[in-house]
Amino acid sequence: MSTGYPDLDALLARLEAVPALGSAELEAEEIAVLGRKSGALTAALKRVATLPVDERKGFGAAVNRLKTRFEAAFAARREALEAERQAREQAGVDLTMPGRERWVGAEHPVTRVVDEIIGIFRGIGFTVAVGPEVETEWYNFLALNFPPEHPAMDLHDTLYLDAAPVEEEPGGRLLLRTHTSPVQIRTLMQSPPPVRVVIPGMVYRSDAFDASHSPAFHQIEGLAVDEGISFVDLKATLIHFARRFFGPATKTRFRPSFFPFTEPSAEMDVECQLCHGSGCPACKGTGWMEILGCGMVHPAVLENCGLDAERYTGWAFGMGPHRIAMLRYGIPDIRLLLEGDMRFLERVGRP
Ligand code: PHE
Repeated sequence: MSTGYPDLDALLARLEAVPALGSAELEAEEIAVLGRKSGALTAALKRVATLPVDERKGFGAAVNRLKTRFEAAFAARREALEAERQAREQAGVDLTMPGRERWVGAEHPVTRVVDEIIGIFRGIGFTVAVGPEVETEWYNFLALNFPPEHPAMDLHDTLYLDAAPVEEEPGGRLLLRTHTSPVQIRTLMQSPPPVRVVIPGMVYRSDAFDASHSPAFHQIEGLAVDEGISFVDLKATLIHFARRFFGPATKTRFRPSFFPFTEPSAEMDVECQLCHGSGCPACKGTGWMEILGCGMVHPAVLENCGLDAERYTGWAFGMGPHRIAMLRYGIPDIRLLLEGDMRFLERVGRP
């Protein structure tokens, strides 16, 4: 509502703001508007005497009306603030108490490593696949070309479930998968080549829980199947990965190895991240650390998935992100990564 005088109207915005003032602001504003020495309305009243006689009465009355409105607004705000204060007091809220510090979470180092590895493979055209942690003997072993009497299938190494096999799933007893390789089978049976996937997930083994073993740990599997894929693709891709992950000058080496589901098979080492090749206790003086197993997909595996092994070839790898996190962050004991001790996680969880 206009006062009819532009220089008084300038004060209306301040009048409207009064109901939002805090108590200290309210006090300051009362002085700034009504103060005897330099209050804005006090100054306006003083100006009345300088005006032509016929204007004095109207302007003076407008100043007084505005003053009344300000006084009412200040009084109402003071009352409201006092009521709020009393309500808080009754509710037992103590505003002088220090606030509770917010708990900020952070990424687990293994999560960070898994995401980074996946990111590097995504960058060269791989997608992510996942599979169940409860598997059958067929997916976990037999389809992967393990002979039926293979020692890995022993109760000694594998955790079997005390449950009846599922009708529509092929193959035998239920178990906790001992590696992510059964997802190779599931992927190849579901979608025909070209296939390029990385497969993160938990795996389980009947292992001791000590500085370098855990009965449950992560793996990341990789699988590429297409026409014309060779060992050159395997080496080039895994060397590219190691350089992206550990640094562009990272040295790698491949050593012959054996897995029932790859032929030929290899293990890939990277130069020890702690001593950079000169030899230290962590790498047992060799200067190298093994980070993954790999090889050309065995033709029997392709045939087990219903693929023509004359037409298609492929390669696969499996690695343990716990080991890689330990290597990268210099963590001496795998249990630190699994036990959830806040003192440890608070230190490594923040980059
Ligand atoms: N599944 C193997 C293991 O758990 C790793 C591996 C995966 C090796 C794929 C070769 C190819 O040790």
